Amino acid sequence: MFTLDELSREIADCTKCRLHLNRINTVPGEGNLSARVMFIGEAPGADEDRLGRPFVGKAGQLLDKALNALDFYRDENYYISNICKCRPEKNRIPTDDEAEACLPYLRRQVAIIKPKIIVCLGATPVKYIIDKQSRITLIRGTWLERKGYYITATFHPAALLRDESKKRFFWEDLKKVKEKYNEIISIDQKIV
Ligand code: URA
Repeated sequence: MFTLDELSREIADCTKCRLHLNRINTVPGEGNLSARVMFIGEAPGADEDRLGRPFVGKAGQLLDKALNALDFYRDENYYISNICKCRPEKNRIPTDDEAEACLPYLRRQVAIIKPKIIVCLGATPVKYIIDKQSRITLIRGTWLERKGYYITATFHPAALLRDESKKRFFWEDLKKVKEKYNEIISIDQKIV
């Protein structure tokens, strides 16, 4: 079994798709290594590419602020990663080839971290994790149970920067994540 550090080193050397050609850094993910919640975005942007860290730009700051208000902190309660670990130029949506080339890394991250809850941020993770036909506007805030994981989706925080009216729904969805998290914690505590 690989550790997350070993996996991150493998990602750093990856040349499986053309996104490696323009990257400054790979962005494997970060957070608590045994988190019960994993957030998954689309792909790094310019700030993330420069720093090698996920969700550190404006959208990431907005997400962190909302999560902190729910008492969720990166180092303590969640791990955050992306479908693609390298930045697509001009922040375009990753192609199917790029996403498919990168997905095995995400699967391995999930296998190592073993989160109970997976939260898709926006349409791209919904497409590759939930279903190609799913629509974020229809499934956001709902739960799916698959292979022992509770999976849900909400808007990508960048969408809130473009359209403030989505903030209310985003907040409702995150509160549901927190409720599910509390349920899981209380079950774990009863078992132990
Ligand atoms: N948007 C994403 O989907 N991921 C990041 O890491 C940053 C912005």
